[in-house]
Amino acid sequence: MDGPDGCGKSTQTDRLCRWLEGQGASAATFRDPGATAVGEKIRKILLDPVHESMGADVEVLLYMAARAQLWKEKIAPALERGECVVMDRWISSTCAYQGCAGGFGVEKVIRLGGDCLERVWPDITIILDVDPDTAKGRMDRELDRMEQKGADYHRRVREGFLELAETVDRVVKVDAADSIEAVHENIVSIVAGLIGSEGRK
Ligand code: TMP
Repeated sequence: MDGPDGCGKSTQTDRLCRWLEGQGASAATFRDPGATAVGEKIRKILLDPVHESMGADVEVLLYMAARAQLWKEKIAPALERGECVVMDRWISSTCAYQGCAGGFGVEKVIRLGGDCLERVWPDITIILDVDPDTAKGRMDRELDRMEQKGADYHRRVREGFLELAETVDRVVKVDAADSIEAVHENIVSIVAGLIGSEGRK
């Protein structure tokens, strides 16, 4: 589950996990970056407004490092146990934030992901698309270093996500300006379709 800050993905991730469990599946969810001791420390470095001078290249390497650790320590074991893993962000974020908005280059992010991740893309990536005004209204709290980057940066983040949904297989866009319930229903129909098509293979 991915999208610009304020798109509501944490709420929707929780709802999706509860729905999966209601279907009899075990669902595990992890936030990226984070969920491991190494990842949480990297997250702190990345989001601390004190590190104002950090460049997009350094961000890419840190996000990717946290992700590699998360895969090894949490995601791979959960998949081996047969659980459904619902990620709160993944490489699609690095593509949109650092690759597109930060100017590092989306292709370079994907190439680097291929070199250091065992799994680059999930079975499905759902991009919760939201306009900047709606997103802003949902972020009524102190902003972290990435959230503080300004309106122009965040406009490019959104463009980056939309571009991925148009160009990358199994990346789909959902309109997240709707009510929580309507967005959830939309997500469920996508995931149910995916489970159905996997079952038929
Ligand atoms: P979160 O608050 O949704 O957990 O994400 C942390 C922040 O990090 C958020 O502003 C998005 C940003 N981010 C990136 O810039 N690149 C990435 O690869 C990831 C995963 C998150």
